[in-house]
Amino acid sequence: MSRSTFYITTPIYYPSDKLHIGHTYCTVATDAIARYKRLRGFEVMFLTGTDEHGQKIEEKAKEAGVSPQEFVDRIVEGKGGILDLWKLMNISNDRFIRTTYDYHVAAVQRIFRKMYDNGDIYKGAYKGKYCTPCESFWTESQLVNGCCPDCGRPVHDAEEEAYFFRLSKYAKPVQDLLESGTFLEPATRVNEMINNFIKPGLEDLCVSRTSFKWGVPVDFDPGHVVYVWVDALFNYATALGYMNDRYDDFGKFWPPVNIVGKEIVRFHSIIWPAMLMSVGEPVPEKVYGHGWLVIDGGKMSKSKGNVVDPYVLAEKFGVDALRFFLLRTFPFGSDGNFSNELLINTINSDLANALGNLVSRSTAMIEKYFGGTLIPEREAEPLDDELRSLTAEVAEKYAVQMDALQLHMALEEVFRLIGRANKYIDETMPWALAKDESKRARLATVLYNLLEAQRAALIMLTPFIPDSCAKAFEQIGAEEAARQWNTVSAYGTLPADVTVHRGETLFPRIDVAKMLQELENMQKPATPPAKPVLPDVTIDEFAKCDMRVCKILTCEAVKKSEKLLKFTVDDGSGKERQILSGIHKFYEPEQLIGQKVAAILNLPTRKMMGYESNGMLLSAVKENDKGEEELHLMIVSDDVPVGAQLC
Ligand code: MSP
Repeated sequence: MSRSTFYITTPIYYPSDKLHIGHTYCTVATDAIARYKRLRGFEVMFLTGTDEHGQKIEEKAKEAGVSPQEFVDRIVEGKGGILDLWKLMNISNDRFIRTTYDYHVAAVQRIFRKMYDNGDIYKGAYKGKYCTPCESFWTESQLVNGCCPDCGRPVHDAEEEAYFFRLSKYAKPVQDLLESGTFLEPATRVNEMINNFIKPGLEDLCVSRTSFKWGVPVDFDPGHVVYVWVDALFNYATALGYMNDRYDDFGKFWPPVNIVGKEIVRFHSIIWPAMLMSVGEPVPEKVYGHGWLVIDGGKMSKSKGNVVDPYVLAEKFGVDALRFFLLRTFPFGSDGNFSNELLINTINSDLANALGNLVSRSTAMIEKYFGGTLIPEREAEPLDDELRSLTAEVAEKYAVQMDALQLHMALEEVFRLIGRANKYIDETMPWALAKDESKRARLATVLYNLLEAQRAALIMLTPFIPDSCAKAFEQIGAEEAARQWNTVSAYGTLPADVTVHRGETLFPRIDVAKMLQELENMQKPATPPAKPVLPDVTIDEFAKCDMRVCKILTCEAVKKSEKLLKFTVDDGSGKERQILSGIHKFYEPEQLIGQKVAAILNLPTRKMMGYESNGMLLSAVKENDKGEEELHLMIVSDDVPVGAQLC
């Protein structure tokens, strides 16, 4: 007997920043598949969530001056956050998991212990290149010019105690699994995994860290936190109640179909099944590695300033148009080049012209020629059979493509039907039939056939553009029962005397040039206006400021202050001088010790957090295009002597 339940997941997203159109693509695609399965009568469990632990989040929170929990709460649950985005995009997930939920944390601890107890996790030493200021280990290949890829400073060989997972033990069963057929798709990714990772030899995986705290503690060895990928991958199981009693659906829904982006296929198709084998649970039914949305062939990134905001696009074009564009345009398994122009052209040609026109033309004609309600008399012609049989053929092919997760191919089929229906209008020329009283039955037949073709197309489009389909069903007079999959090619489902309700235009045509301009203007970073130059001072007044080059001897953070650093500097006088500066947000003490900087020395002494400050370090400050202040300390070249005066 085939299963009547279906479990599908998205990756859990890092709440380290706002999500962009690439993340949205992944979730919308998974949503369309989940909706399709529901349409086909499966009891679906659709899970998404957030991957909230790890060093990066810990660092980001520190930068923002809040606790890691507050930081992730804001990005996940705050206004315009991840939950809001999925609501906006009409995502139909049944469950949402955050890896900071207590039940997940406790379950991960039990899972880790289980793998330890069965001998698959052991204690060893992690060897690597260590960057002390960044508290990070790097491998030789990650270094940039032999230095830390994050801060550019020298690294040194180091070792730390860590737990390891016996990944090497699972190399053979994982390879067999990969080669067995449909576990990993698209098939091209199988060779990539085997050639790049399995054949060179799978090494045991380091699965604990001691260099940061923001993670799931190993309960039997405090000080170690569970490697974030172990914590993250098991979300798919804990969210069903695996090793916890928050839920009780594991038996019912396991195993999952894991939809993931191509760069995390390795984790999902090698490490993930190996760990499931270790805990004795079935591996996923499928891991599907989709392609990326790229811009001008390259990655979207904040530093390039080319990150596309789904909120902006949804507001400009509508949620359904955006969902549709993402899934219609790009083959799901390959990369797709995003552009505003492509987005607008797809909306215009498929949604406004092909689909929107079909619905509005047919309902308008039924209103015009029949006052909105068709007469039940019929007069068939051979041409009608072609449209009818195409409907059945398309429905069948659509299902094959959807089952194979070839979403854009499934849509291609639907648009073949919509195109044929539009052509049927031109061939049958209802406006000519309407002029002849004796052709009333023929006219009604043509218009009825059109509604039936549309009804089938709308059923198939529902997983992609659910709200628009509901409106269109309403317009063509299709009740709930006529919106179900089992009627997709059941010609004659609509009542013979169906009443249509012409409504608002489903997808208004977009003026390409105007919209492109609008988007371009919005995406242009606003340059903050330069501050006006202050009123003149005399040279004598300026000369009263005693500014000199000082060398930083010590620097430390002031306790209980997020901003303040306390310095002792050599100002050239032979005596040490203490200066406080509110620049901790921009610099760590280790970065500054030994540097030469410019300071003004003859400001009145000021007390800050109980410490005297005798002077001020000079900085260059400017607001960036996000309205945030950027600060650069005036660091002076090492060959300028200490005590040299600025003039
Ligand atoms: N937290 C991990 C996943 C853990 S799953 C157990 C992670 N998070 S992520 O936020 O960086 O990425 C989540 C998903 O978004 C990945 O599948 C990734 O491929 C996808 N995308 C991120 N940028 C993308 C595009 N530009 N295009 C398409 N998908 C992309 O990885």
